[in-house]
Amino acid sequence: MQNIPHIPVLYREVIEAFKNIESGIIIDCTMGYGGHSSMILEANPNIKLIAIDQDQTAIEFSTERLSKYAERVSIRKGRFSNVIKDILEEYGVDEIKGLLADIGVSSLQLDQKDRGFSYESENLDMRMDKDAPLTAQTVVNEYSTSELETILLEYGELRNYKKIASTIVNNRPFTSAKELSDTLKDDMPRGKKIHPATLLMQAIRIEVNDELGELKSLLGSLQNAGLSSAKIAIISFHSLEDRIVKQEFIKWSKSCICPSEAFRCECGNNHSLGKIVTRKPLMAQEDELKENVRSRSAKMRVFQMDN
Ligand SMILES: C[S@@+](CC[C@H](N)C(=O)[O-])C[C@H]1O[C@@H](n2cnc3c(N)ncnc32)[C@H](O)[C@@H]1O
Repeated sequence: MQNIPHIPVLYREVIEAFKNIESGIIIDCTMGYGGHSSMILEANPNIKLIAIDQDQTAIEFSTERLSKYAERVSIRKGRFSNVIKDILEEYGVDEIKGLLADIGVSSLQLDQKDRGFSYESENLDMRMDKDAPLTAQTVVNEYSTSELETILLEYGELRNYKKIASTIVNNRPFTSAKELSDTLKDDMPRGKKIHPATLLMQAIRIEVNDELGELKSLLGSLQNAGLSSAKIAIISFHSLEDRIVKQEFIKWSKSCICPSEAFRCECGNNHSLGKIVTRKPLMAQEDELKENVRSRSAKMRVFQMDN
């Protein structure tokens, strides 16, 4: 029996989103420790699941966890950007029925000190895919002051980003996240429920793993995939990500894509890809918030493709 290192967030809402899918393929873009994947396989007994993750540890763990569904699951290591095209080509299909992306970092990645995601880590790594070229070490020790300011402001939403960037530049090189967070402890915001260095770590992690670029590419590839009836559910943990998903879904729902200054519609007024299912993002209910602290910032948006 495996110890499950990650509790899936918004588990009821995910099951609800896919409950009417009776057959066909569902893609789990962020398999992680197989929590959502196993729940979807249980709740939808006739579907096939393609599960993706870029983290080899997650692949190994979930290959064992999902082994009892082996005939209905196909697991592959890789990034979810552009995955739709590859998968449709590889499986020789032109349709999927559902897609889930629970983006961000898993509890195990955060807890394993040697991965470098925690402010207590003895190294500076933060790669979800250990074969990827960019590490936190490069970002912290080699980025220019203005590059650091940009990621601290945009991805960490740190108000004193200039001061933090200059402390980093004046004290580097750093060899561990612990050394970095200790050096910066006086520059970090206080009084919040989270550890002061959490937002700093988040900003560096988003840069190292190109998390916003991955999300934008995934949404772009879905828009262009010509899917006719897929349900798309995206869970995000960062306001920037949620905004990207919200705006993309609004764009997908529009029939008319003429510029706002156009005098009259000339686009054919037939560009809608389907309907937004969740006008407001779904968030964890009281009982889930109590049992899983990570769920407090999770937001899920759902779109029904309907071409
Ligand atoms: C929040 S966890 C998912 C947990 C999973 N839903 C579960 O129930 O166990 C996010 C996972 O997505 C993976 N991931 C994040 N970005 C990715 C990307 N661009 N491509 C592939 N996997 C990614 C991470 O390695 C991590 O294992």
